[in-house]
Amino acid sequence: MSVQPEPLVLVPRQEVAATVQRLAAEIKRDYHDKAPVLVGVLKGSFIFMADLIRMLDFRLTVEFVSLSSYGKGTESSGRVKLVRCLASPVRGQDVLVIEDIVDTGLTIAFLLDYLRKKKPASLKLCALLDKPARRKVPVTIDYLGLTVPDKFVVGYGLDWDEKFRHLPDVCVLEGSED
Ligand code: XMP
Ligand code: MG
Repeated sequence: MSVQPEPLVLVPRQEVAATVQRLAAEIKRDYHDKAPVLVGVLKGSFIFMADLIRMLDFRLTVEFVSLSSYGKGTESSGRVKLVRCLASPVRGQDVLVIEDIVDTGLTIAFLLDYLRKKKPASLKLCALLDKPARRKVPVTIDYLGLTVPDKFVVGYGLDWDEKFRHLPDVCVLEGSED
């Protein structure tokens, strides 16, 4: 019988909400007169995206892409695939990518390259979480929520083997060394 890892609260929901509010204020300041396209990275960013955009009171549109870099479990395969590409052209538009977590950086570097080739007017990155301990490629996070330790985190949209996305707090999996 397989043992189900136990999630322990790392960032309580109140702190997550305050972080999203701060990020929304920073984004408002920079984009209120721009009508940007917010590109969410599925599936992990769906809750963050939903909370964030409801705090933004200017014109914007929403797109989603889906990338896969992880196999099952907590080890990155290192290979990034675009599973769902952009549904609309972003040429000449201000694009803000909304990501759940930047870990090795391979996934987001791949996506930023893909988007840059589409010739947006501007391209920036907002990430709720940063796990710098395992970075393999340099990534500039223009709007950063919180830095987390070198542990596998779940909840608030993030999963382990598709589980735990619904947890309202950001949690770590007990015993995870990722
Ligand atoms: P890389 O390593 O390419 O990974 O920066 C980015 C993507 O991998 C997922 N990821 C995680 N998912 N807990 C998760 O639930 C984690 O600790 C974690 N670290 C990386 C995530 O989907 C991210 O987009
Ligand atoms: Mg992700």
